[in-house]
Amino acid sequence: AGGITISREDVVKEDDPTNNVPDSVFWKLGLQLHRRDDHPLGILKNEIYKFFEDKFPGKYQKFDDLSPIVSVTSNFDDVLVPPDHVSRRYNDTYYINSDTVLRTHTSAHQAQKLREGCTHFLVTGDVYRRDSIDATHYPVFHQMEGFRVFSPAEWDASGMDGTSFALQDLKETLEGLAKRLFGDVETRWVDTYFPFTNPSIELEIFFQGNWLEVLGCGVTEPAILENNGRAGTVAWAFGLGLERLAMVLFDIPDIRLFWSSDLRFTSQFKAGQLGIKFKPFSKFPPCYKDISFWISDSFTENNLCEVVRGIAGDLAEEVKLIDSFTNKKGMTSNCFRIAYRSMERSLTDDEINNLQARVREEVPGKLQVTLR
Ligand code: PHE
Repeated sequence: AGGITISREDVVKEDDPTNNVPDSVFWKLGLQLHRRDDHPLGILKNEIYKFFEDKFPGKYQKFDDLSPIVSVTSNFDDVLVPPDHVSRRYNDTYYINSDTVLRTHTSAHQAQKLREGCTHFLVTGDVYRRDSIDATHYPVFHQMEGFRVFSPAEWDASGMDGTSFALQDLKETLEGLAKRLFGDVETRWVDTYFPFTNPSIELEIFFQGNWLEVLGCGVTEPAILENNGRAGTVAWAFGLGLERLAMVLFDIPDIRLFWSSDLRFTSQFKAGQLGIKFKPFSKFPPCYKDISFWISDSFTENNLCEVVRGIAGDLAEEVKLIDSFTNKKGMTSNCFRIAYRSMERSLTDDEINNLQARVREEVPGKLQVTLR
């Protein structure tokens, strides 16, 4: 229901070798789960919007329907991702063609919004990454970007330098947000690296016995401000993963559930109600199937996962390397265990055997490996 449809034919030239976006990902484009007020992702988004609205009435501009199809320049160059950075590889990113990608993060919109003159903004959207398959990873997920620019007058009075001032404000703001979402939790800051911020830090919260990474953030690299019409100012930015937080806040055990249209899932959530805990309606047992093959140099787990998802779609719950060895001739064999499970119904043996047979059929040709 809802959303715009972007068809593959409209954006991809036929047989373009620089395109690596499979159909299964294409049809997620435009679904915009984050814009459904009664979907856990929409409920969470609205709650975060409310936090900023309460704290700074009318200050933050909110964008949540910017196209996920962006230029390589916006996604990487504009936020200073080095030309040889791993995240640019075809193995990690979905390319529509050699200069257009499915955004890998909402930071892809920072530069554009700055050029449009925005100084306080929140950008929410679907982001896309080629990745492995398990309960917390899915090729599409949702992020919210926050960005705030300070002018010299704002930090001068404090006696601090601009960077320290912005960093302190960033920490205060995000600790406040974490408390609003999670109640009176313990939080800690961990140093990290992003090309677009310095310093770069991550916020973790102590939740049900574990430290959980909640978001990445930092003080914006001056070059981004200079390149986009804001020389002499200082800014902070953060990017948070909505699924990550929603899984914890709503007790949702598997990331595939966000995409379910099963009423037993969707009917459990109500607009404006963050506290609701999801009650699992079924726990069908997973079925495990192993596949072993001799790999070649070009083999990657992400590529295998793409083949599996292409065939099994959301029935693939996990793909896990369970054994790897290299023989005397230097050939390496990998054994992967695929877990098949539906969130909604029980699968028949026939159905699973059929899926596994198709995986075995497609893997050698698509991945240049030899089945054992
Ligand atoms: N874009 C980063 C990511 O996707 C998150 C981030 C946003 C970090 C803004 C710092 C500042 O992981």
